[in-house]
Amino acid sequence: MSTTNARPIVELNGVTKSYPIGKEGHVQVLVGIDLALRAGEFMALMGPSGSGKSTLMNIIGCLDRHDKGRYILDGDNVGELDDDGLSSLRGTKIGFVFQFFNLIPQLDVRENVELPLFYQGVSRSERRQRAEHALERVGLAHRVGHRPNQISGGEMQRVAIARSLITDPILLIGDEPTGNLDSKTGKAILELFHQLHAQGVSLLLVTHDRGVGEQAERVLHMRDGALVDDKTVSQIAVTP
Ligand SMILES: Nc1ncnc2c1ncn2[C@@H]1O[C@H](COP(=O)(O)OP(=O)(O)OP(=O)(O)O)[C@@H](O)[C@H]1O
Ligand SMILES: [Mg+2]
Repeated sequence: MSTTNARPIVELNGVTKSYPIGKEGHVQVLVGIDLALRAGEFMALMGPSGSGKSTLMNIIGCLDRHDKGRYILDGDNVGELDDDGLSSLRGTKIGFVFQFFNLIPQLDVRENVELPLFYQGVSRSERRQRAEHALERVGLAHRVGHRPNQISGGEMQRVAIARSLITDPILLIGDEPTGNLDSKTGKAILELFHQLHAQGVSLLLVTHDRGVGEQAERVLHMRDGALVDDKTVSQIAVTP
C-alpha cells in the first residue's frame, strides 16, 4: 500500500529545542527539524546515543514543547495550545510505548489498559469493553486479572501496547520498545507492530535494533540534533 499520498498527521518545520544547563548556559539538542509523517506509515528513527531521538519523539508526542519553528499535529498548531490543550491533544491523538513499559504495579492488566479512558471520563462499562478489545488485539485477553509482576516482560509490553491503542490514536510512538526484551521476545513484539501496521496503525519507533530499522517502510536517521537521512524503503513496483 502506498502511503505517499496519505494525509499528513505530523508536520514539523524548523523545529528547535534546547535545554538550560547551569546558570545561564544551554545545550542545543534539536537544530531545526523539517519532517512530515503521513497516516499509515511505519517509520523507524535511528541514530547514535545523544543525537536527539527521544527529544524529538517527546515533542512529536506532545510530552514536551519545542522552542522555535512550527509543529502541526493532525491540523492543530501545537505551539498555540496551552498546557490543557496540549495534554488533551496528547491523550486523544498519540499512543506511547516505552522501553520499561511504565505500567502501574498496583493495577491489574485490564485497569492499566483502561487508564487513558478513565482520564477521559469514559464510563466503566465502555472502558471495560474497549480494554478487552484492545487486549484481544495484542493477544492477551487471557491475562486481564494479572498484575504486572505476574506476567513476563513481553506480556508487559503487550499490555502497554493495548493501553496505547485504546484511544485509537492517529500515531503510535515507541521509544526503544524492544530495548528491554530478549531477542526472541523482541521479535514477537515487532511482529505485533507489523500486524497493527497492516490494520492501519501509524507507527514511529526509535530503535538501536537494526532488525526494526530493516523492517520499517521508512527509516529516519538523526545525528547531532539534525535529520541527516530519510529513506523510504521502496517496494519494487510490480505491474500486473
Ligand atoms: N532534560 C534535559 N536537560 C538537559 N539536557 C538534556 C535533557 N534531555 C536530554 N538532554 C541532552 O540532549 C541530548 C539528546 O538527548 P536524547 O535523550 O534526545 O538522545 P537520544 O538520541 O534519545 O539518545 P539515546 O539513544 O541514548 O536514548 C543529549 O546530549 C542529552 O544529554
Ligand atoms: Mg533516547
